[in-house]
Amino acid sequence: MTPEMDVTTHIDFPAATLPKADPCVMVIFGASGDLTRRKLIPALFHLAAHGCMTDTFHVVGIGRQPMDDDAFRASLREWVGKADKSGAFDAGAWEMFAARLSYLPGDFTDPGTYQRLTAHLQRLPRPAALNRLFYLATAPTAAPAIIQGLASSGLNAEQSGWSRIIVEKPFGRDVESARALNATLASAFEERQIYRIDHYLGKETVQNILFFRFGNALFEPVWNRNHVAYVEITAAEPLGVGHRAGYYEESGALRDMVANHLMQLLALTAMEAPVAFDADAVRDKKTDVWRSIHPMTPEEVLERTVRAQYQPGHIDGQAVPGYCQEAGVAADSQVETYTALEFHVDNWRWAGVPFYLRTGKCLARHVTEIAVHFRHPPKTLFPQEAGLKTNAIVLRIQPDDGISLGFGAKQPGTERKAVPVSMDFSFRSAFGENAPSAYAVLLLDAMRGDATLFTRGDGVEAQWRLITPIEEAWSRASSWLPGYPAGSDGPREADALLARNGHAWRPIVDKDSRRG
Ligand code: BG6
Repeated sequence: MTPEMDVTTHIDFPAATLPKADPCVMVIFGASGDLTRRKLIPALFHLAAHGCMTDTFHVVGIGRQPMDDDAFRASLREWVGKADKSGAFDAGAWEMFAARLSYLPGDFTDPGTYQRLTAHLQRLPRPAALNRLFYLATAPTAAPAIIQGLASSGLNAEQSGWSRIIVEKPFGRDVESARALNATLASAFEERQIYRIDHYLGKETVQNILFFRFGNALFEPVWNRNHVAYVEITAAEPLGVGHRAGYYEESGALRDMVANHLMQLLALTAMEAPVAFDADAVRDKKTDVWRSIHPMTPEEVLERTVRAQYQPGHIDGQAVPGYCQEAGVAADSQVETYTALEFHVDNWRWAGVPFYLRTGKCLARHVTEIAVHFRHPPKTLFPQEAGLKTNAIVLRIQPDDGISLGFGAKQPGTERKAVPVSMDFSFRSAFGENAPSAYAVLLLDAMRGDATLFTRGDGVEAQWRLITPIEEAWSRASSWLPGYPAGSDGPREADALLARNGHAWRPIVDKDSRRG
């Protein structure tokens, strides 16, 4: 089938339950890669099947691998089925969606690729073809050539429609490379055309942090240094490095998770109320948080950070190799698969409150959450039974998404004994499991021109200003890297980091002690 024939197919998706995207064409660079198969196409299919796309939308995939349209469609079909957790894959909707997909083989450094793309776009129906969303689902090294190719063929220009570009992480690997990437993007696109995607911001439970904080009057008055003792942000995964050793050996846990996802969670937890819920107002306040944190000195890095690597162990009863035994990893690799850090947000709201961040691979369980721990009561009237905790609000991002409030209650009986209990809210019980994926949410926002959930260039640089001194101090420090057994809570050194302030992490291994 030729692309011209494809686009005449009538699409009859159900009425929209989400807002409708602008008519547009999405061009994916890196279309034969993993991200396209696993995330982008399933997300676009979900949007189409839920009536969010206009009947002229089109997706053009560009990749180095030679393939025709039909082979491209066939390569994606199985992934869309896998991504559909309901198990009710709609083959009819897929047929209609697949007719909107086409593929152009091409080298990103070849000007001919952009000429062929321009000609291809001209054959697609208006108005969709006038609005173009470019997605860089490629290795970061390919970005400059693609941006230049788009600029020299005029595809970046907004003459009769809009032109936007979505850039995947990593946005550089230190302050300097982030600045260079921002400058390359700025040479072809205005900041309002640039959408730096962090999939954490598309998660419903992450967006809910702002609704919880600023949509209720109850919590905000105590959300500050007068009441909060410390904040814990955890992103623990049971999975190892899998087939991504090549990438991970260059990245490590700090760059892979902290420099983006955990920084976002920190900003949403600590930011001031924006003047409005729009892209600039929200992003201004988030950037203020990162700017309020002083970059660590080399001495502070030694005191306030921990890095470690997983060793052989067991997860869910299965033997797991150590990181250095994984395929593609150097036998003497010094790359961290775990990190824990203590940041201080040095502003009026948070001065003196430690924010502890930790993330790691091959830990006991999948847990992403933010725990806000409150101070002790000023005077203790009741016997402090072992295990009675201070109040904590826990925002559980995944997998058991919800919010809990832990407090002490009197145990029934004649003794005056207080025990820890919790009030618990579960997203699934309240709303079911119908939430669109994070990528679907973010793609729809980009197609509607809403950049609130995307990272601005100054924010990226502000994040790297905090990460780069840590990477530098680590690379100068001795090569000793503590280990932790796969399937554990992480290294003992991370416990010591909090213990010196009289604090303790919430356990990862022990599922039952996780409420409140
Ligand atoms: C990615 C990291 O950005 O996020 C991965 O590169 C990590 O290493 C993943 O596994 C975690 O995402 P999620 O949505 O599963 O928490």
